[in-house]
Amino acid sequence: MSNRYAVVLAAGQGTRMKSKLYKVLHSVCGKPMVQHVLDHVSSLDVQEIVTVVGHGAEKVQAELGSVSRFALQSEQLGTAHAVMQAEELLEGKTGTTLVICGDTPLIKPETMQALIQQHEEQGAKASVLTAHIENPTGYGRIIRNEQGYVEKIVEHKDATEKEREVREINTGTYCFDNEALFSALKKVSNDNAQGEYYLPDVIGILKSEGEIVSAYQTDDFEETLGVNDRVALSQAESIMKERINTAHMRNGVTLIDPANTYIESDVVIGQDTIIYPGTTIKAGSKIGSDCIIGPNTEIANCVVGDASSICQSVAHDSVIGSKVTIGPFAHIRPQSQLSDNVKVGNFVEIKKASLGHGSKASHLSYLGDAEIGAGVNVGCGSITVNYDGKNKFLTKIEDGVFVGCNSNLIAPVTIGEGAYIAAGSTITDDVPGNALSIARARQVNKENYASKLNYNK
Ligand code: UD1
Ligand code: MG
Repeated sequence: MSNRYAVVLAAGQGTRMKSKLYKVLHSVCGKPMVQHVLDHVSSLDVQEIVTVVGHGAEKVQAELGSVSRFALQSEQLGTAHAVMQAEELLEGKTGTTLVICGDTPLIKPETMQALIQQHEEQGAKASVLTAHIENPTGYGRIIRNEQGYVEKIVEHKDATEKEREVREINTGTYCFDNEALFSALKKVSNDNAQGEYYLPDVIGILKSEGEIVSAYQTDDFEETLGVNDRVALSQAESIMKERINTAHMRNGVTLIDPANTYIESDVVIGQDTIIYPGTTIKAGSKIGSDCIIGPNTEIANCVVGDASSICQSVAHDSVIGSKVTIGPFAHIRPQSQLSDNVKVGNFVEIKKASLGHGSKASHLSYLGDAEIGAGVNVGCGSITVNYDGKNKFLTKIEDGVFVGCNSNLIAPVTIGEGAYIAAGSTITDDVPGNALSIARARQVNKENYASKLNYNK
């Protein structure tokens, strides 16, 4: 195996997206499209990856981190010019260089690998990944000679009527002999419809110099989609979504209605978990086995243990244990921690709060900035009063506490282990362990008062 390198093209603004966000940073299933490309490329055996950045260079670099080195293309003069910017980092190296666009997130690593393999086996100087598609409008066309060998690639805007009839397109993914690539790039001109230096011209240049040029055709036309506008972005989203859902189902997860289940990239879900329709599971989430999720639930960046159920609820940036039940209609906000066997029922909001093993808040509560121990029962309508209009304060509820219905716990305050708060109390001072605390006006019954008012006459 020869040395292998990769160049990812990500410098364009993406005018056709009509967006403030640089094209390659638009997400497909929760991950920027260029990150998909980079993840795919990094899963191959490549020694070095160079990403060419330009528009939004700093943002793209910050997003991609250290997997790749970066070359700056300060003026976007075309894809060939973009690859030239990587010359300094790859100059004089021998081996194979894979070049791929940052806007083709669906090209699978297996396909890249097959392209590289064919390229090396045939001893080619350049190989292009092609596909047959029904509507090739906008793509570069593969022009073959009478013997069927690739002669050149013609961009849609430069193509003749006859060339436009060709349905075999350039996917924008190529393999080159590294040295041949950089020497051919110097011969590319910008004498074309867009006044740009086209990378596909390298194929024609090498061919005319008598070098071996090959094409590898993928039969999965869905892979080849180049995302240039929002319509293609939505198509990429739906293809990627189907791939992700299929992979989860193959791994033993039941999706009741895959078409209405939205699972972002890199989410992990255990076997025998069942996901009901209308559910979105966003990036960074890890769901255990035997859970029941949904319907109509949103989980983002949460870890969920085994055998938990989350119904018609929203949970963000939190850790949820095993055998936890949440919902319907609960909201778990960031930095919450629910231990095993916790129950959070309807219309309960939890924010930056921890609930210990088996604790329950079954109905209509707000628990924010709170440390709640194990075996605590928070009665219906109880609230940790954490905010005085300026600052947030902590409520501590120790193990085994019973908070009666409709209590206000005005933070900062601590309720000692095993204490009992009478329903309707407004607690302003710490309560010692095992105490009963009643903080409400005494009831006064005025005998026969109602009849004196003569309401019934
Ligand atoms: C390109 C190909 C076309 C192919 C299609 C596949 C050229 C000239 N055409 O067209 O044959 O069918 O991809 O999707 O290559 N970029 C830079 N710097 C530049 C210009 C572009 O880094 O100066 C980057 C863009 O960020 C993008 C990629 O290169 O990620 C491709 O550019 P784009 O403008 O999308 O080319 P297409 O018109 O799609
Ligand atoms: Mg494109």
